[in-house]
Amino acid sequence: MDGTQSPSSATAVAAPAAGPGPVPAYYSAKTEEIIRKYGNGGRGAPHYHLGLFDGPLPTSQIGPEAIRERICRAQEAMLERAARRWGVFAAPPGSLLDIGCGLGGGSLYWAQEHGARVTALTNTAAHIPHLWEFSRAAGVADRISPVLMDVHDLSTERAYDAAVAFESTNHMERYRLFEVVARALRPGGWFGIEDHFLTGDRAAEYLNDYYTTRLGTFDEYLSAARAAGLELADNDDVTAGVTEFWVQSMAWSATELERAMQSGDAGETTERTGFTTARLAESARKHGIFFRLWRDREVETRLLLFRLPPR
Ligand SMILES: C[S@@+](CC[C@H](N)C(=O)[O-])C[C@H]1O[C@@H](n2cnc3c(N)ncnc32)[C@H](O)[C@@H]1O
Repeated sequence: MDGTQSPSSATAVAAPAAGPGPVPAYYSAKTEEIIRKYGNGGRGAPHYHLGLFDGPLPTSQIGPEAIRERICRAQEAMLERAARRWGVFAAPPGSLLDIGCGLGGGSLYWAQEHGARVTALTNTAAHIPHLWEFSRAAGVADRISPVLMDVHDLSTERAYDAAVAFESTNHMERYRLFEVVARALRPGGWFGIEDHFLTGDRAAEYLNDYYTTRLGTFDEYLSAARAAGLELADNDDVTAGVTEFWVQSMAWSATELERAMQSGDAGETTERTGFTTARLAESARKHGIFFRLWRDREVETRLLLFRLPPR
């Protein structure tokens, strides 16, 4: 596979014969829920990552639809900040590998806003038909090539100007990840990451069990990058800006739950949101806990930029 592979052959890359592992199984089960909760992300495909807020926003006089719009705008703000920090407005990459692309909100962003030819790589088969549909409807199907593959198996050489990974590296084996990315980039290429980093071990088990992740530390990423010959070029701590995301997400669940209780029609709420009332209650409770973990900096969120030295 390389950056110019035709989409039809790209999607022919088979899922492992033994069936999906826990991560694709987790995302397959969540696909419809993500689409119903985040809608078209305000752009044409859902984002599934934290959003960036300037500060606290009141949630008491506002309904779930407006909160959802806010969340989508904050997710876009995260992408825009990354693009600015990583120099994309000044020097857009021609070809970009979106690692762990989810349902494609980010892939659409890089293609629509920066004109990149995007290889949208995911290990979740259930995402692929949606990626096709969302890119077609957004008019960028010619710029986005969905690929079904576990990134650990990537063997592409010198094909991309850039790679990005938004909240997907937390599922991956970091040494292997940096090794395959370093090989896939052209000399002078860059690798941008948005992800969460443990500052101790108090939150690890709780978060990893809930999200099927294997969160790491910032130091682990640095060592893995160094081993692959990639150099840290930017380190942007956005923890304060994303903490508010949990308040807004909690408010979304709580206001949807309140509405379901008042109308007495939990079925209608489930149909519209993709969440049962039990899931809404669970989500509101968990996001309250996540708010505290981020506020107390048990976990930090960073935008990291790594560069492959020029030849
Ligand atoms: C939290 S979602 C983020 C989706 C997207 N980057 C976004 O921001 O909207 C994580 C994504 O990483 C993908 N992923 C996790 N492990 C992967 C792997 N080993 N190879 C390829 N994709 C992987 C999952 O399938 C999922 O699509």
